[in-house]
Amino acid sequence: MTATASNPSPTGLDLQQAAKDHLWMHFTRMSAYEDAPVPIIARGEGCYLEDINGKRYLDALAGLFAVQIGYSHGEEIGAAVAAQMQELPYYTNWSYAHPRAIELAKEIADLAPGDLNRVFFTNSGSEAVESAWKLARQFHTANGERRWKAIGRDVAYHGATMGALSINGVAPIRTPFEPLVPQVGHVRNTNRFRRPEGETEEQFTQFLLDDLEHRILSEGPETVAMVIMEPVQNSGGAFTPPAGYFQGVRALCDEHGILLCADEVITAFGRIDGWFASEHYDIKPDLITMAKGMSSAYASIGAVVASDRVAEPFLHGAESFMHGLTFGGHPVQTAIALKNIEIMKRERVVEGVAERTAAFRQTLSQLLELPIAGDLRGTGFFFALELVKDNETNATFTDDEAEKLLRGFLSERLYDAGIICRADDRGDPVVQISPPLVAGQAEFDEIAGILGEVLGEASRLVGH
Ligand SMILES: Cc1ncc(COP(=O)(O)O)c(C=O)c1O
Repeated sequence: MTATASNPSPTGLDLQQAAKDHLWMHFTRMSAYEDAPVPIIARGEGCYLEDINGKRYLDALAGLFAVQIGYSHGEEIGAAVAAQMQELPYYTNWSYAHPRAIELAKEIADLAPGDLNRVFFTNSGSEAVESAWKLARQFHTANGERRWKAIGRDVAYHGATMGALSINGVAPIRTPFEPLVPQVGHVRNTNRFRRPEGETEEQFTQFLLDDLEHRILSEGPETVAMVIMEPVQNSGGAFTPPAGYFQGVRALCDEHGILLCADEVITAFGRIDGWFASEHYDIKPDLITMAKGMSSAYASIGAVVASDRVAEPFLHGAESFMHGLTFGGHPVQTAIALKNIEIMKRERVVEGVAERTAAFRQTLSQLLELPIAGDLRGTGFFFALELVKDNETNATFTDDEAEKLLRGFLSERLYDAGIICRADDRGDPVVQISPPLVAGQAEFDEIAGILGEVLGEASRLVGH
């Protein structure tokens, strides 16, 4: 990175003060900044960010699990934006089409597995999830059935709008807004840490599928519109599925006439393996939701892709999907996503993840020597390290201890040490590690080095 400035606002505005006075930060305890500076990120390059004081940080979270290509493609993507702005700065997808939306829909249909061929654009992941649930409901209505319920998983995050929020299995973000959209059931996620010793993978899969079947039957299968799951669940810490799990989920959905939605807002566009993790795990979903990596977060764009079977009732006769968004499939946003996919193909970004994931895991696994490190899980460029009181017993922290460790120490200390990753306690406490997909061995070493140092301090803090 080249030039730095303490205050890069061209207007001379005191950014720090204005942030404290006016900016409402998302999912943020703003009281934390009463006596401390708001972290203000001013620049990015490759896998690195720089704050307004010129300090560098390795972004081991890819923004929010999103900046696949890193931060150095602003000029190229900016040129695509400028060209699109000149050609057609805005038009809608309501009753009309425009070239970039058509091209991107075709591109996504080509990249998506199986017969997932029909793309509905949104502005975010939450809207994609919201749209998927509405689509599932209307699909069943169009087929003469009345089904409305959704089934999600414990501790899973699916977004912040009311419908998507209702699907979440994260209690603290649900309760302030209750009553939520009725009726969502939750089933066990695929967290295998602390399962009984000696349980085989097959037994674990069966245990989870029994739970799902029980939930479907107790909801009344004829009322359930959609089962929604991430291929690898983020919240709680990169829970990968056991062998046979998604095949069993698919079979239960088929048996009971339920649509299966893979929420790939994080896992698509190379984060796990291939363009869609549904392909990697052979999920065969009816719907896939996506956002984040679709544009490497250079644009606010998401989508739902639906299978031919789901789209079919909407292609003939009087049926139309009673849902739309002014900015959905915006020309500039679609131009950015197209350029991002072009860059990802040209720079072999998806292939690079497959080539480097083993080395990344290997590097991170050094951290398991720390007494505070209980479990390293995940795949691709999507890992989580679960923190425990002591890795002899794997005992977890109380809520109070987790609060002190994560909010009182780790979040700030990691940032001070020059790394951005997330210390998260939506489930048991984890550190989430999910860098841009262009990261290589130098970045892996730096991540492991800084985490090793800071988690070593944390170990001592909790009495080792
Ligand atoms: C799996 C999943 N679904 C949906 C969302 C919501 O996406 P957005 O924040 O773009 O609305 C997220 C966001 O992190 C997510 O991880």
